Amino acid sequence: MKFKEKVLKFTFMLGCLSAYGQDSEPELVIANPNAMFIQQQRALPSAEVIGRGDDLYQVNCRLCHGPDLRGGDQGGPNLLRSEAVLNDIEGEVIGVAVLNGQGRMPSFDNFSNNDIAAIAGYIHSIKATSEGQGSTPPVDYDLDILVGDAAAGERYFNQECVGCHSVTGDLEGISSRIIDDYTMQNTWVAGGRRQAGQGGLLTRATVTLSGGELVEGRLLRYDDFFISLRTEDGSYRSFTRRGDSPTVELDDPLTRHRELWGELTDSNIHDVTAYLETIK
Ligand code: HEC
Ligand code: HEC
Repeated sequence: MKFKEKVLKFTFMLGCLSAYGQDSEPELVIANPNAMFIQQQRALPSAEVIGRGDDLYQVNCRLCHGPDLRGGDQGGPNLLRSEAVLNDIEGEVIGVAVLNGQGRMPSFDNFSNNDIAAIAGYIHSIKATSEGQGSTPPVDYDLDILVGDAAAGERYFNQECVGCHSVTGDLEGISSRIIDDYTMQNTWVAGGRRQAGQGGLLTRATVTLSGGELVEGRLLRYDDFFISLRTEDGSYRSFTRRGDSPTVELDDPLTRHRELWGELTDSNIHDVTAYLETIK
């Protein structure tokens, strides 16, 4: 049987839209109108996007929101019961919490709109497997992360990481410094803790205005239409963008780590974590 695609329009608080930098309302696309709940009816992004969102979630959100989204060790709430997640279509509501922070949740200033849409897609894909609204999806998660092969991890490290790191240099004694396995895994995959206000490394941006003036600072937000940054003297500057104007240059010291998120397999992650656990 063929389903006619139904499109529902949702409106959101203006605040949500402006915080996320959307200039049009997202549309909820219904792919399975016969399913029970909206979360099962809605169209999901491609498996590739969901996979990328999964990786981003595991690195940045899992510790607080849990491996199954029900809440985690560091006190994040259950996202399966979250009003924000329920109202979200493609990251425009979830993105407000992520970009601005909320209560004890830190803000993340290094996600693109595509990253946030991918994380949202992943969260919606898990919700879509729930048997009832707000219940836990029937998914088994591997809670033992120290299942890796340290020797394979060492080989991978010598191939992919020694260009920038050394286990007798900057990473010496890392397993004595980072005791918890999850934290170890999250730290190396992400390249350290880099949320705003936590002393992490942050992306620098240089904007060249049409008159030739350079404005330099720490990147706050960046998309096709807008860039904002905090300059050395603490002032906030923002610019609207049209095409390539004004020119923006970004210097993200963790570019390679971000690229790795798309390349790492589960076994790479387990193996390297097991290897780093041997670096006392
Ligand atoms: C350090 C812990 C921590 C991390 C890391 C974290 N969160 Fe949160 N998150 C929280 C807490 C605590 C709240 C509840 C904040 C409040 O309202 O007091 C929250 C709230 C939220 C909410 C709003 C829930 C609602 O219904 O109001 C969303 C959505 C969310 N987080 C998504 C994410 C995503 C996506 C990530 C990863 C990019 C993430 N969080 C990372 C702790 C965290
Ligand atoms: C192109 C350079 C580059 C490559 C390649 C690279 N990293 Fe990094 N990594 C960085 C930078 C830059 C930082 C941030 C350094 C800092 O905070 O002092 C970082 C941070 C880290 C941290 C956190 C360090 C700390 O002291 O908390 C770990 C662990 C780490 N990387 C592991 C790895 C592993 C494992 C690989 C290979 C799979 C890898 N990195 C590949 C550049 C790189």
